[in-house]
Amino acid sequence: MADDLITIFVEEESGEKRAIEAPTDMQLSLMELLKASDYPVQATCGGMALCATCHVEVVEGDDSYKEATDPELDMLDTLPEVTDASRLACQMRLADDMDGMVVRILAKEECS
Ligand code: FES
Repeated sequence: MADDLITIFVEEESGEKRAIEAPTDMQLSLMELLKASDYPVQATCGGMALCATCHVEVVEGDDSYKEATDPELDMLDTLPEVTDASRLACQMRLADDMDGMVVRILAKEECS
């Protein structure tokens, strides 16, 4: 069972990294993991790539995870604070090769 656990790090504004253990055998998205870990991710669209309140940046991790998919890009284009490694966390399924990934949450509370 422990084989199905990975560790994702969330970089706080202070630069500190918080480790979150994440199961990879439950088809969870990164957004669901962040919400379950008490991060202020509103996810108002429920994971449909329509609200961008789950906007994150992949700080460290496999390059393939730094590239947003087309539906994400459409949504990300509407945001002011977008980086080359911006993603919508709801579109990222937790997988074994995300072990050790570092993300920053860019969605701010003023998003609605
Ligand atoms: S939860 Fe709405 S875009 Fe990700």
